[in-house]
Amino acid sequence: MDLKLRPSFFFSSFILIFLLNSFDSGSAASPKCISTEREALLTFKQSLTDLSGRLSSWSGQDCCNWTGVLCDARTGHVVNIDLRNPSQAVNSDEYKRGCLRGKINQSLTRLKFLSYLDLSSNDFNGLVIPEFIGHIVTLRYLNLSSSSFSGEVPASLGSLSKLEFLDLYAESFSDSGPFALRASDLKWLPSSLTYLNMGYVNLSGAGETWLQDFTRLTKLKELHLFNCEIKNLPPSLSSSANLKLLEVLDLSENSLSSPIPSWLFDLTSLRKLFLRWDFLQGSIPSGFKNLKLLETLDLSNNLELTGEVPPVLGELPQLKYLDLSANELNSQINGFLDAFSKNKYNSLVFLDLSSNKMAGTLPESLGALRNLQILDLSSNSFTGSIPSSIGNMLSLKKLDLSFNAMNGNIPETLGKLAELIVNSINLSGNNLSGEIPEEILDLSYLRILNLSRNSMAGRIPGGISKLGRLETLDLSRNMLSGAIPEGLAAISSLQKLNLSYNKLEGRIPQLLKFDDPSVYIGNELLCGKPLPKKCPRRML
Ligand SMILES: *[C@@H]1O[C@H](CO)[C@@H](O)[C@H](O)[C@H]1NC(C)=O
Ligand SMILES: *[C@@H]1O[C@H](CO)[C@@H](O)[C@H](O)[C@H]1NC(C)=O
Ligand SMILES: *[C@@H]1O[C@H](CO)[C@@H](O)[C@H](O)[C@H]1NC(C)=O
Ligand SMILES: *[C@@H]1O[C@H](CO)[C@@H](O)[C@H](O)[C@H]1NC(C)=O
Ligand SMILES: *[C@@H]1O[C@H](CO)[C@@H](O)[C@H](O)[C@H]1NC(C)=O
Ligand SMILES: *[C@@H]1O[C@H](CO)[C@@H](O)[C@H](O)[C@H]1NC(C)=O
Ligand SMILES: *[C@@H]1O[C@H](CO)[C@@H](O)[C@H](O)[C@H]1NC(C)=O
Ligand SMILES: *[C@@H]1O[C@H](CO)[C@@H](O)[C@H](O)[C@H]1NC(C)=O
Repeated sequence: MDLKLRPSFFFSSFILIFLLNSFDSGSAASPKCISTEREALLTFKQSLTDLSGRLSSWSGQDCCNWTGVLCDARTGHVVNIDLRNPSQAVNSDEYKRGCLRGKINQSLTRLKFLSYLDLSSNDFNGLVIPEFIGHIVTLRYLNLSSSSFSGEVPASLGSLSKLEFLDLYAESFSDSGPFALRASDLKWLPSSLTYLNMGYVNLSGAGETWLQDFTRLTKLKELHLFNCEIKNLPPSLSSSANLKLLEVLDLSENSLSSPIPSWLFDLTSLRKLFLRWDFLQGSIPSGFKNLKLLETLDLSNNLELTGEVPPVLGELPQLKYLDLSANELNSQINGFLDAFSKNKYNSLVFLDLSSNKMAGTLPESLGALRNLQILDLSSNSFTGSIPSSIGNMLSLKKLDLSFNAMNGNIPETLGKLAELIVNSINLSGNNLSGEIPEEILDLSYLRILNLSRNSMAGRIPGGISKLGRLETLDLSRNMLSGAIPEGLAAISSLQKLNLSYNKLEGRIPQLLKFDDPSVYIGNELLCGKPLPKKCPRRML
């Protein structure tokens, strides 16, 4: 009897499953998971360690609705796997919990239609990038960034002939590191790439011709080689025209130790160029005039770039962000500003020329920087007075002219910027004189005012309390006299106040109660020493 019943039991179960299945496929919307692919995903999951349980939805029949899995709506094949760490706050507990660990199972190669694989920001603890990833030939997007892989990047990735995005950025946030990826050969890079990031991958073994290997990538739009231990930048590049689509180039934090090469100026699609901390030498070539689409130029911290800020930089129609800080630039600023004042596009929003050796006066054409939000000319040798055209810089948020040799009065025109969110003014370490202009009190958004180490005289204006958002006021080391205005105590946002080394006299305003910390919780009165109980009068 048993032997006769069993087949019919199996038969009816089969029909039931069949009916359920056909019922399921009637509800059109979600694609149906293919069982061999489901098994491949489950094997892949088994090899991973998932501390936070973010793959807990990976059970049951419909793998198409598992977290991070996407199927083709028509065929039901798995096309995307996105297992990027949901937290991007590296080093946070949440990030660490979110890291997948363990191994990457070869079962992934059974997903014959996979085009998108993101395993970034996980912790594979020094695992070598599996050679078999190069067998998933349908991939268009591969992101293995910041996941603590190590060893040689497998040349098998060169078989990915459809690959457009390859992100191997190797900065590791693992506690068990450090881990280092290297590539001693780059000839394998697939020519289909439009985006390549090999930041932190050690390319020092890739030889003198490393750059030539990239010129095969004729579709490339972004090349990120930040901190790759590259030691040389060739002065000429025969096939630079092959890179004519390149829009973003980042070679920062390498040891290039060479002049800025002229082949750069053949890359006429460039929008962003980052060459900071590269020990570049010599002057900044005027060949930059060819890069008409340039928006960002960062040549900061090369320490050795000399000569002038080329006037052609002032003519670039799209330039928004110019950082030439921490070099040895040693001419005047006039040529650049005069060129800029004729630039009808007026795109510049960020200009940092700090920590150079620039000299001469600031011309009135400074006021042409009408869209500039951040101006940092600190730590140079500029002389003369602050041009009154500064009142035309109608987008200014942050002004730093500290540590120069400027003199004269602070122009009243600064007050014309009153409608704006001028956040921070640092004029410390010059030889500015005269009184603090009343007009400066109109800058109602001001958070930081630092006039320390100048020759300012006269009284602290009584209306100082108009600066109702002030957090830092440093007037130390001037020749200010008279009484400390009572209004100062009314600025409730004030956290740092330094009035030391002046000729102030009289009473300390009642409300500035130094010896009662409960009145000014979180506030500091800086009198030459941190958090004094009482300010000795002679320091004020
Ligand atoms: C899977 O589908 C079911 C039913 O449509 C739904 O309730 C569930 O939230 C889905 N799970 C995921 C992880 O999307
Ligand atoms: C993949 O998983 C299978 C089954 O669990 C296992 O036998 C195999 O060793 C794994 N391979 C890798 C590379 O982890
Ligand atoms: C790769 O993933 C990281 C986050 O883990 C992300 O910042 C980066 O933009 C991704 N790369 C690409 C090419 O999308
Ligand atoms: C980079 O690779 C070279 C050899 O290719 C090696 O000498 C060097 O130590 C590596 N750099 C680091 C930081 O490991
Ligand atoms: C000037 O003050 C601003 C705002 O506090 C600060 O960010 C900047 O570092 C200061 N400049 C110098 C050269 O210290
Ligand atoms: C600063 O300016 C005053 C005049 O306002 C001048 O007497 C003094 O010599 C200047 N100091 C320096 C160091 O230039
Ligand atoms: C004022 O600026 C000088 C020079 O930039 C700096 O050393 C000082 O710390 C600043 N004062 C405050 C209170 O931030
Ligand atoms: C206040 O300013 C003086 C002179 O600029 C400086 O020496 C001192 O360190 C400052 N005090 C604090 C606490 O920053």
